Amino acid sequence: MLLFGVTITSDQIPHNTLLETAIAASKEAGAILLDYGRSGFRIKHKNPINLVTDADHAAEQCVIDRIRKHFPTHRFLAEERGRVEQSPSPYLWVIDPLDGTTNFAHGYPAYCVSVGLEYQGRCILGAVLDPSRDELFTAVEGRGAQLNGQPIHVSDTMALGSSLLVTGFAYDIRESPRNNLDHFVKFALKAQGMRRTGSAALDLCYVAAGRFDGFWEVQLNPWDMAAGSVIVREAGGRLTNFCGDDLSIYGQELVASNGYIHQAMLKVLNEETSQMPSS
Ligand code: IPD
Ligand code: CA
Ligand code: CA
Repeated sequence: MLLFGVTITSDQIPHNTLLETAIAASKEAGAILLDYGRSGFRIKHKNPINLVTDADHAAEQCVIDRIRKHFPTHRFLAEERGRVEQSPSPYLWVIDPLDGTTNFAHGYPAYCVSVGLEYQGRCILGAVLDPSRDELFTAVEGRGAQLNGQPIHVSDTMALGSSLLVTGFAYDIRESPRNNLDHFVKFALKAQGMRRTGSAALDLCYVAAGRFDGFWEVQLNPWDMAAGSVIVREAGGRLTNFCGDDLSIYGQELVASNGYIHQAMLKVLNEETSQMPSS
């Protein structure tokens, strides 16, 4: 059967039902994050700069409970509890209950709930909710991407020099030689502007909405990319690793762009690193 240009086999659940569940779960978890933001929360350290709060755990529990209620056999990969395998289901929900924990912990309102879904290993839908701005980004494979129900599309910026780019840095920035500072310096000298928002899932959604022209990062996790990658793809964007191969959310590296500046971004990412400028 063909639905919205996507072939549905008999073991598949209608995409609308899946998306409605993802949206409901994101909204419930978003309300929990706002509540914790108002009433306070405990913070624990995974490492000196990698935090986790009560809100991360409560939001994750909420998303999993809500989805499980509808789909008890589905599998989960969630940041705080890892893999939860109920059965050999072809459905895997990939969840970041709070993307932007550092922002959240500081009261900086740039964080989101990110809920993506893989079917037989392919990301087929995503819902990303920014509860502070009440912005809900959604996409289903073959049906375009939306912000609060309205279609969104990537930008039409053609040149790197006119582009607003965004990136992020992993929590092992102090120890890892792959700390992204080399790429940051190169892009800062070539782009029109650079931002570091602290929420990779929102960075992807902003590429989808044309607010950023390109985004790259070197050490992301599947839950940072799952939902946002579908949203970028459905908004007409391009997603690869640094070699230009199709994105795998398990591959850590990500380049997302409006397509026009993609090749130029890959060229910069693959340039030999010369001496870092000294102060
Ligand atoms: C982090 C954010 C940040 C990115 C880090 C992620 P978290 O996720 O997405 O923007 O630079 O690589 O780990 O810890 O806030 O869920
Ligand atoms: Ca994250
Ligand atoms: Ca997180």
